[in-house]
Amino acid sequence: MKVAGHVRVPGDKSITHRAFFAAALAQGTSWVEGALTSRDARSTAALLRRLGADVSPLRRGARVRVGGLGRLLEPPDALHCGNSGTTARLLLGILAAHPFRATVTGDTSLRRRPMRRVTVPLTEMGATFVEHNNDGLPLSVTGGPLQPLTHRQQVSSAQVKGALLFAGLAGGVSVDLIEPSGGSRDHTERLFRGLGLTVETVRGGEWIHYRPTGGVVPFELSIPGDISSAAFLVGAALLAEGGELSLEDVGLNPTRTGFLEVVRRMGGEGSVHTEPSRMALEEPVGTLVARPSPLSSTEVDAAEIPSLIDEVPLLAILASRAEGTTVFREVGELRVKESNRLELLAANLRAIGSDAEVRGNDLYVTGGAAPPVGRIRTAGDHRLAMAFAVLGTVPAARVM
Ligand code: S3P
Repeated sequence: MKVAGHVRVPGDKSITHRAFFAAALAQGTSWVEGALTSRDARSTAALLRRLGADVSPLRRGARVRVGGLGRLLEPPDALHCGNSGTTARLLLGILAAHPFRATVTGDTSLRRRPMRRVTVPLTEMGATFVEHNNDGLPLSVTGGPLQPLTHRQQVSSAQVKGALLFAGLAGGVSVDLIEPSGGSRDHTERLFRGLGLTVETVRGGEWIHYRPTGGVVPFELSIPGDISSAAFLVGAALLAEGGELSLEDVGLNPTRTGFLEVVRRMGGEGSVHTEPSRMALEEPVGTLVARPSPLSSTEVDAAEIPSLIDEVPLLAILASRAEGTTVFREVGELRVKESNRLELLAANLRAIGSDAEVRGNDLYVTGGAAPPVGRIRTAGDHRLAMAFAVLGTVPAARVM
């Protein structure tokens, strides 16, 4: 099969959520172009409407208008975040600074995901939480005047970091964070800086300091394509028999491009390359080009994981077609994504005839040339579905 052409992928999910939240906190009208219109983005838009923001309908290709009041209003009833972890965690951060009680919930998958990683530091800042399901949603939060926070995160998580920075912004207090080495995606920091707010990062981005200098002024932003969506097409292009695929106007933030480094190690320097084109506020954007390549195994170390956390399923699929054994170190966080992504990934790879194993928090995948044939189980996890769909493009594959 040949994979060739020029493609644009839907807008970046992480930036879309953050842009909507920031716009709702601005007093006046902001415009967001290229926003993701998927169900997760709709969850954020819908609940912001119930919190007083005037968000126009999300339609592919249409700009989104967000009329913000400078603060959120008390919602009439529970706030449903659907399947979206980013929505839930960022929202909890913002609600922590608002003087009313609100209940936040989500679908079955989201209700299983850990929330104390945000509620513990938010409690330290002065918010009050009532748990209804241990560490998970639903949760009730009563916000209030907040105190400054100094916090060392136990896990690299941009959702936790984002929640705490948004709490600092909405509450008008300083927030000083330290992330484990190989800090997480820095979209919140870049957006804040792009909006003229004061965020400093030191030590390669793992130390983050927010200082309150005022609120959000209405803004315009053109969101780039989501590199995590582009990754699946890059995977299909690498496994193809011919062609060259160009993905245009895609976000190239270095805290998101870790998988490109791994792909270069597996497929050689010529397998993928990037060409910068523009900046979206502080976010670098460009074209990503991929072409077919024989693949060899590699070791992906713990410090690389945050920059490719959502691409592990795709990279594991590539590893199943590479010569040798690829190891992904310290990928235990995948157990608390939309599914137990780590165990399901290994089980599904075995189900289609590959050799895959989880040892502790490490994932081992040994490649082979036999066509992948078998039935997989996604448990409703979109990244597993997409990764195995890519594997289904291999000649003679039968992946169901
Ligand atoms: C995201 C952060 C990551 C990522 C998720 C989006 C974000 O989650 O897996 O898809 O937008 O902040 P964690 O913060 O749990 O690592």
